[in-house]
Amino acid sequence: MLVHMITSSHKIETPTAIVLLGATGDLAQKKLLPALMDLFAKELLPERLHIVAFSKADHTDESYRLFAREQIIKKSEHLEELLVRFLEKITYVQGRFDESQSYEHIKSALDTYDEHIGMCTSKLFYLAVPPTYYETIFEHIAAVKLEQPCIVGEGWTRILVEKPFGNDLAHARHLDQKLSQLFREEQIYRIDHYLAKDAIQNILSFRFSNTLFAHTWNSDYVEAVYIRVFEKVDVSTRGAFFDGVGALRDVGQNHMLQMLALIAMEYPEELSANTLRKKRTDVFRALKIPGPIELDSHIVKGQYEGYQAVPHVAPGSNTETYFAVKTFLDTPRWHGVPFYLEHGKAMEHSCVEISVRFKSSDQCVCGTENAHDHPNFVRFSISPQEKITVRFWVRTPGTKYGLEPNDLVFDRSHLTEAQIIIADAYEEVLFDALSGDQTLFVSNAEQEAAWNYITAILSLWQSSTPLPYTPGSTGPESALKAEIERTIHLFT
Ligand code: BG6
Repeated sequence: MLVHMITSSHKIETPTAIVLLGATGDLAQKKLLPALMDLFAKELLPERLHIVAFSKADHTDESYRLFAREQIIKKSEHLEELLVRFLEKITYVQGRFDESQSYEHIKSALDTYDEHIGMCTSKLFYLAVPPTYYETIFEHIAAVKLEQPCIVGEGWTRILVEKPFGNDLAHARHLDQKLSQLFREEQIYRIDHYLAKDAIQNILSFRFSNTLFAHTWNSDYVEAVYIRVFEKVDVSTRGAFFDGVGALRDVGQNHMLQMLALIAMEYPEELSANTLRKKRTDVFRALKIPGPIELDSHIVKGQYEGYQAVPHVAPGSNTETYFAVKTFLDTPRWHGVPFYLEHGKAMEHSCVEISVRFKSSDQCVCGTENAHDHPNFVRFSISPQEKITVRFWVRTPGTKYGLEPNDLVFDRSHLTEAQIIIADAYEEVLFDALSGDQTLFVSNAEQEAAWNYITAILSLWQSSTPLPYTPGSTGPESALKAEIERTIHLFT
């Protein structure tokens, strides 16, 4: 987790096999293969490493290695010799998630490598697959006892599961129950790659290490919090995955609630996995569960025009590609403070940011023409640039008295990869899972609490039709959107 402290001396010595289920999918192509290669180039992967790539696509070891090479070089440049050494570590197994024999083939690929090196490898299973496959994968892993180490007491086995883990609270509980029959909680790594982003980890450092802000981070001073994830890209080729999931489960249940947790959590006395996960859970448990009366005023769903023509989207689909939610936390610190969450695909611009609006001061030296409408803001920009901006007010130059806004900006976008060491969230996720650090992974309690809140919204809006919006716009018009714009307009 401590990204800036990681150096090559943190190399993992345990011989390890990574079983990548979904090895030709979107996630493997865009994130996992490049991240593994980057870790390898930085000598942060175990020396004795075996990657078993599993998918239904028709590949041999050689053709999959070519496929992997193409994905890697799209993202970053590497020395040919390094690339070849990395690709040689990959064995391809072709099969289906629901076919017992396929898991026998995975097992035999693992055994062959173990025999070759004369050691028992530790095993990391990465489920880079849609959640609909989880249950069958768990059952098949159990059937061939893949979850067990090759020698009792030697090495470890761990499993990485992607979000969204399930469709709702009941389904997540059901899956967790299946998963817990195979793995203990300390072997389960539930991914939310947002937690692994450096800019997001920085929220806690900023909040709790600066007196200037630590004492004003509460309802006495804060008026509202805005969490936005806007994406210019539309659903594109991801219709088959997205239509069964929707924006709220895809990004709201996990990434956005995790950002909210870090903005709102109480002081973590120590930076341990247990403490941080518990503090995040406390925030989710404090979310006020919405009732029917809040539909529309506090909860809005939208769908961009043209979404229904995306391949694999069901005709007449009600799946949301946009949502806006206004929520409250039932804690003394945040009593009465609205938290606005807004996310959309096919939006006018892309940005991931959290803005904290402070209350305007009761007293002000602002001149007669300025009402007391000069709130301070703190904005954490996660992307496209990593920045923290503090908005403050100063005297307008000249003879006539007035106030004008100015910004103090901390900008980290200029850091080189070498300075960051681990530049990508998926590198961090993989490195931490291999090292056995669960801090940046979601606990069972945490995800249940998050699902509890999200499931309430899902059941409120299940039969409602999403509001249409034009691709490339700022989302559908609604009273909630207007409220957000009105209160954040001084800082856009
Ligand atoms: C993923 C979602 O988890 O996060 C995508 O499935 C979304 O739909 C993505 O686009 C956003 O992540 P990032 O790191 O690109 O902001």
